[in-house]
Amino acid sequence: MKKKLLIGVLLVIACLAYFILGGRKSSAPGNSSTPPNGQSSSSTTTPKDNFNKQTHPIDKAGSIWWIVSKVRPLEPLNYAPDDLVTPVVPLRANANSSEMRLREEPAAALRAMVADAKKAGISLILVSGYRSYQLQVSVYNGYVQQYGQAGADKQSARPGTSEHQTGLAADLGAANGKCELEQCFADTSEGHWIADNAYNYGFILRYVSGKDAVTGYEYEPWHVRYVGKDLSMEMHKENIQTLEEFFGVVPASQPY
Ligand code: DAL
Ligand code: ZN
Repeated sequence: MKKKLLIGVLLVIACLAYFILGGRKSSAPGNSSTPPNGQSSSSTTTPKDNFNKQTHPIDKAGSIWWIVSKVRPLEPLNYAPDDLVTPVVPLRANANSSEMRLREEPAAALRAMVADAKKAGISLILVSGYRSYQLQVSVYNGYVQQYGQAGADKQSARPGTSEHQTGLAADLGAANGKCELEQCFADTSEGHWIADNAYNYGFILRYVSGKDAVTGYEYEPWHVRYVGKDLSMEMHKENIQTLEEFFGVVPASQPY
C-alpha cells in the first residue's frame, strides 16, 4: 500500500514538473521577444532610421536639397536666388563683388563655421560663392581656353549647370592663399579642417575624391555645398558621400 502511494506521489511530481518546465519552454520565444506593446523585438532593439528623404525636394528651384549637375541643369536656366547676402567672413575679393555672396541660410552657416575654424587656429576665406549664369559663361570659357573643352568639363560646369548659381555652394580657401582651387588644398591644415568639420554646419564636400564617375567632376577639396544640418549629418552617419548616391539619382558622369 505504501509503495503504491509513493509511486502515485512520484507520478504527480513528474507530471507537475513536465507541465511547468514544458510550459515555460513552449512559451519562451513569444514571451521573451514580444514586448507589452506588441511590437517585435527587432523593431525595439534596432530602432528604424526614420530619416525622411522627402523633407525637401531635390528637383525644385530654391530647395536646399536641390541637386544640380551635368545631367540636372538649373530649371529655370536663368534662376537667381532672391536672398543673397555677403557672408560675414574674410573674402577673397571686394565685398561688392557679386561672387562674394551666398543665400542667407548658407551665409549664416558659413559665418559660424569660419568663426569656429578661427578658434581652432584655421583661417578660411570665401573664394567664390554665388555665380550668375553670365558669370559662369566667362568662368567656363576661361577653363576652355586653358584646358580645351574636354579638360574644362572635368573641372568647370557649363553655364546653367553650376551649383554656384544656386547660391548654396562655396569655394573656400586658406587665408594664406596656399593651394587655392588646387587639389593640394586637401593636404593643407585648412583643407583637412573643412573635410573633418563641414558636416557639422550643414555643408558637404560635393566633389569628393574617387567619385568623378558619380559627380561628373574631379576632386574639389575646396567646394562645399550647403544642404542643411539634417542631411549633412545623416550622410556623414551613413558614410554616403554624394547626393547622387544618397538620393539614388542618375550619376552625372559623361553626359557630353
Ligand atoms: N567647379 C564646379 C564644378 C562648378 O563650376 O560649378
Ligand atoms: Zn566651386
